[in-house]
Amino acid sequence: MAEIQTIAPVRHGWQGEVEIPGDKSISHRSVMFAGLGNTPVHIRNFLHAADCLSTVGVMRALGVDVEFLNENELIVTGKGLHGLTEPMTVLDAGNSGTTLRLMMGLLAPQPFLSTFCGDASLTRRPMGRVLLPLSAMGARIYGRNTNNNLPLTIVPTGEKLRGIHYESPVASAQVKSAILLAGLYADAPTTVTEPYVSRDHTEQMLAGFGVRLERTGTNVTLFPVEEGGYRAPEEITVPGDISSAAYFLVAGTIIEGSRLLLKNVGINPTRTGILDVLTEMGANIQLENERTSGGERVADIIVASASLRGISFGAEIMPRLIDEIPVIAVAALFAEGDTVITGAGELRVKETDRLHAIAEEFQKLAPGSVEEQEDGLIIHGKTEIRQAQVSSWGDHRMAMSLAVLGVAAEGVRIEEPDSVNISYPAFFSEMERLSKGGSL
Ligand code: S3P
Repeated sequence: MAEIQTIAPVRHGWQGEVEIPGDKSISHRSVMFAGLGNTPVHIRNFLHAADCLSTVGVMRALGVDVEFLNENELIVTGKGLHGLTEPMTVLDAGNSGTTLRLMMGLLAPQPFLSTFCGDASLTRRPMGRVLLPLSAMGARIYGRNTNNNLPLTIVPTGEKLRGIHYESPVASAQVKSAILLAGLYADAPTTVTEPYVSRDHTEQMLAGFGVRLERTGTNVTLFPVEEGGYRAPEEITVPGDISSAAYFLVAGTIIEGSRLLLKNVGINPTRTGILDVLTEMGANIQLENERTSGGERVADIIVASASLRGISFGAEIMPRLIDEIPVIAVAALFAEGDTVITGAGELRVKETDRLHAIAEEFQKLAPGSVEEQEDGLIIHGKTEIRQAQVSSWGDHRMAMSLAVLGVAAEGVRIEEPDSVNISYPAFFSEMERLSKGGSL
């Protein structure tokens, strides 16, 4: 891919269908959880992107058999709940927070030593949020410096972990999942309480493996399982990723004359904040063909161009749209009036500090359009947009959000565009196909 991607403006809207690639969160979990079973699991619509391939690499290093039938279909065969084996080398989580944090939970109870590394972005991100509760369960984990950054080493303790009740200060599915996965092997049930319910794919999928979980309000309790109680399904079909659909939801809304059919999108209620926010802003979005696939809700989504108005939203909805803030900020730039986003401090510890990155790049494209706050953004809609070269900060969601802005504007060039490979390698070719006329 070119070092700088020039985004061609779209004159007459985008019409056509988009097959939304597999959900990143669910793809990770499908390989991890299948790898703990002892029968082959056929995974379909797996997201073949750098982050999920990091998980495949880690699971293989732990002795799990992963065979690709094609890019999006694989057979994962584990050696049972207690069948992971000591890795011969350092485990590389790449750019993927989900790989690292969930695997920390899975490896903390194992009777062998493991060490993790990752890329520059992951090495900066906070791991204390997982290390602390796992240590409270009895795990022994050592990180670099007082922030417990990568590299991290997990040392076997020779004892079972303790089931705990953890009150998490953050609504984070990665933190919750790490604790629950460690809880699979604990001596008693493990409960996690969150300020707001984060995405629940771990709970949904583990239930499909026969694991007993109970949810009450913002608490979820997992009961430890014995070997025979963990039963891998024969098949897992991964729904399309609403976080990837989000770019087309916003593009289809802000580019005049557009009408897109987004096929096979996961609509798990813990992920659909983007639909609620765009609808409140005035977007024209309809769900069709709603169905359940592998325990997850799925639909086709029709989006047509519409005029937007600014709104305010905050902490309560944040876990349901945490990854969509950059593209929502783009929608807000095209809306009438101000959009006020609060309770978004978690964005500062994503692949990059996304609040700062949005503010910096919007400032280049539309000076005066954004005010960066401690835990959010104020975006002044309809600020004039000019030609500019902007940076993705090596962050996939920044690259795709700026590309959506670019098709609706003129003369936008993006540095480090290949960061899209983290979650949506075909993103730019899909944009090009739609710009040429849209047929699949
Ligand atoms: C993810 C959870 C979210 C999200 C990330 C994927 C997951 O992170 O931002 O892209 O798969 O569990 P947090 O749970 O830390 O907010």
